[in-house]
Amino acid sequence: MAEDPRKIVEEGYDLVAAAYSRLERENQWPRMRWLSKVLSRLAPGSSVLDLGCGSGDPADIEIARLHHVIGVDLSKAQIGLARQNIPKGRFIHEDLSSLDFPDESFDAVVSFYTLEHLPREQHGPILQQIHSWLRPEGLLLFSYEKGDRNDVTVEWLGAPMFFSMYDPKTIMRLVKDAGFDIIEADVESQLEQNREVSYLWILARRK
Ligand SMILES: C[S@@+](CC[C@H](N)C(=O)[O-])C[C@H]1O[C@@H](n2cnc3c(N)ncnc32)[C@H](O)[C@@H]1O
Repeated sequence: MAEDPRKIVEEGYDLVAAAYSRLERENQWPRMRWLSKVLSRLAPGSSVLDLGCGSGDPADIEIARLHHVIGVDLSKAQIGLARQNIPKGRFIHEDLSSLDFPDESFDAVVSFYTLEHLPREQHGPILQQIHSWLRPEGLLLFSYEKGDRNDVTVEWLGAPMFFSMYDPKTIMRLVKDAGFDIIEADVESQLEQNREVSYLWILARRK
């Protein structure tokens, strides 16, 4: 690996935070529909962790209506926006792979459009961490770009950006190996700069 992926992603999102927030205005992404599958299963006042929360708009704004939201993001620009957008949320400027929460801290963990920005050999260990942070029966929802790419850096929204992901079968196996039952999984496409991009959506429950 030539350059530190964490540095590429951190500097990249500091540059493209505003451009990224405009992307979804092109059309509606499936994020909120999937999020509603989590929120409909939670009691009011639950604790929800959002990994790679970005600006918090729109997911954390919705979560914070009834729940405690804790967002984590590597980009200072994104965390700044999230703090403005959701004043009652708690937002941590940190690499999600170096977090250390006590066991059984959360009722749900969500992560949208983020895991594919970390080297894929970290994906299994991160899923195991999430499992330990969730209370028994806790929910995990994440999207995962459909593909099979091992550590590539490409131009994205005008900045270099790092991507790395396993094929859908492998990531589903890693979810199960980490101790989750998959409730629902599906591949959905969305438009990004007039390009169709497909994501695997996984909703799972901690055993
Ligand atoms: C495509 S954006 C998604 C933002 C938001 N989740 C959403 O649904 O719009 C990916 C976000 O993940 C963050 N991110 C990427 N790698 C990260 C890491 N290792 N730790 C924390 N945040 C990370 C980026 O800074 C960026 O804000």
